[in-house]
Amino acid sequence: MKKVNLSIEKKSYATREAVRTLRTNLQFCGDDKRVILVTSCVPGEGKTSVSVSLAESIADMGKSVILVDADIRKSVMASRLGITGVEKGLSHFLSGQCVLADVIVATNIPKFHILLSGPQAPNPTELLESKRFSGMLESMKNVYDYIIIDCPPLGVVIDAAIIGRLSDGAIMVVEAGKTKYRLAQNVKDQLENSGASVLGVVLNKVEQKNQKRYYNKYYGSYKYEGYYKTDDDAKNA
Ligand SMILES: Nc1ncnc2c1ncn2[C@@H]1O[C@H](COP(=O)(O)OP(=O)(O)OP(=O)(O)O)[C@@H](O)[C@H]1O
Ligand SMILES: [Mg+2]
Repeated sequence: MKKVNLSIEKKSYATREAVRTLRTNLQFCGDDKRVILVTSCVPGEGKTSVSVSLAESIADMGKSVILVDADIRKSVMASRLGITGVEKGLSHFLSGQCVLADVIVATNIPKFHILLSGPQAPNPTELLESKRFSGMLESMKNVYDYIIIDCPPLGVVIDAAIIGRLSDGAIMVVEAGKTKYRLAQNVKDQLENSGASVLGVVLNKVEQKNQKRYYNKYYGSYKYEGYYKTDDDAKNA
């Protein structure tokens, strides 16, 4: 198996705490919740950031995890994580061009494997609906404790709903102050209609001055989890 070094940006204390909270809440959802998809309403809300942080945090507690980049329309995962020299990915496997073992790579983080998206495919929906995809998740379940799937935004393309049918649960990332309530509600409904249970919502990019307000409002209701990282954190990282 190929091995790559991930370059993951250093996180602030507050961000690490928020990710740990997310991981803990995922664990409390039950040990049958192992195939987890991450989606959002619109692009750029932080799905990839949350997926990577969550997978890293799971590996950190000694559980095995594979991060699947299922954004086969427009993926930035490889460049975001500084991965070079990996040519093949999910789209190659799903189109029958190679076997799974050829596309999974190990990383410098113990117990953290990754499956990159591979090149853009002309027929993503068809590929994700294929038996190869469901079979892949089944075999991954025998190997890994957790399978974290980074999906495209469900408010834009249907892929996350297709993946939702095969997942144990979904995490929705919502950018604070950006996503409209009605759209978030629609996406949540779409996920539930696909058969995915929405485990929680990560409220991302919360401005520091608003943290307390959000924390009180959302944490109190226990419906939402925060993943707090401000622009200041990003600058100081
Ligand atoms: N909490 C945060 N604070 C500040 N910047 C953030 C935060 N989370 C993500 N970002 C930044 O926002 C941008 C979009 O993040 P990311 O790529 O994770 O979103 P995405 O939902 O996966 O996007 P896409 O829909 O294009 O796949 C990136 O530049 C990322 O560094
Ligand atoms: Mg992304």
